[in-house]
Amino acid sequence: MHRDDFLMLKENIIYFDNGATTLKPKVLSEKVSEYYNCYSANAHRGDYSLSVKVDHEYEKTRMLVKDFINAKSTNEIAFTSGTTDSLNKIIFGYFKYVLSKGDEVLLDKSEHASNVLPWFELADELGLVIKYIDLDKNHKITLENVKKTITDKTKVISIAHISNVVGDIRPIKEICEYAHSKDILVLVDGAQSVPHIKIDVQALDIDFLAFSAHKMYGPTGVGVIYGKEALLKNIKPIIFGGGMNSIYNSDFTRIYDELPSLLEAGTPNIAGVIGFGSVIEYLNKIGMDNISKYERELKDYAISKLKEIDNVIIYNEFSESSIITINYADIFAQDLAIYLDKYNICVRAGNHCSKILKDEINIKNTVRISLSFYNTKEEIDELIRVLKNPKIKEEIL
Ligand code: ALA
Repeated sequence: MHRDDFLMLKENIIYFDNGATTLKPKVLSEKVSEYYNCYSANAHRGDYSLSVKVDHEYEKTRMLVKDFINAKSTNEIAFTSGTTDSLNKIIFGYFKYVLSKGDEVLLDKSEHASNVLPWFELADELGLVIKYIDLDKNHKITLENVKKTITDKTKVISIAHISNVVGDIRPIKEICEYAHSKDILVLVDGAQSVPHIKIDVQALDIDFLAFSAHKMYGPTGVGVIYGKEALLKNIKPIIFGGGMNSIYNSDFTRIYDELPSLLEAGTPNIAGVIGFGSVIEYLNKIGMDNISKYERELKDYAISKLKEIDNVIIYNEFSESSIITINYADIFAQDLAIYLDKYNICVRAGNHCSKILKDEINIKNTVRISLSFYNTKEEIDELIRVLKNPKIKEEIL
């Protein structure tokens, strides 16, 4: 779908590393160039019309993001540099002040480092207890396993909506409903879900959501914090400076801005944010439901073809997203990725920044094929052809 919108697809590449970052449609570079060439003033600082134009474009993206995830208000949307930055700001700016010694935080072993390490740090600082929700036999999270892990000390569940390795779509709505009945807050890492499935934060009743623009066809260096306003209004900034204060004096007295500027100290990635807006408009035109339906069909097709190859081990056949994680018998994951690269097929190999998943799947390194709406069945056929090469091992040696 829409391959002509992506200049890189005119090169001879098969890009299956969309979980790491996606390719960019022309609308992005056009909009970014428009900003740099036509009105590249700062945002929220100038009283001249060029700067007002920048404010307008920047805030238009905030409105587009709000509508894209169906938040109630633009006060619930703050721009960051990416999912990692968003998660750290939520964990150290909000949870640090509402949690105390002995409180339990639930994670799981397929979480990305960005949703594990900030919690380890905060646990050390406050004396929190980290617990892991068991994964089922298909390495998925079930509501039952969430319920089993909750105790009367559980205060937060912090999980990805879609795991970046297992690719399972977690039952976030049901988890939030149950968690809220026990006064537990839910922080969702949406890095792998917001680009691929329609997200409605109100329908899901998510408390906090973090995601990145670059995994959804947008620029690198732009991320989003969503938080329910009633919660987010209590967040403390962890970055201080210009653009987030209304006054400060030599005697240390200071008054900080309200949301969302409170969380956006310093000159932001203006070009990126404005460009991100054009990408959201682009995705809206295609339709997120069309994207997820197409990607799901493509994933099912890929799984059925991969299953024809005896030497291919599939770790997540039953996951719902467009992420497929495999190994090839007796070939080291990175070697397979380098072999595929010889055929211009881009995949990611390694632990995918999820370094405790090895405790669950007993293997450290895998090859991840992460699909997008611009991928095709023909590209998957080419992958299969290359994997079926009878000389594959000789070519790798
Ligand atoms: N978090 C990104 C990935 O899963 C980089 O590949």
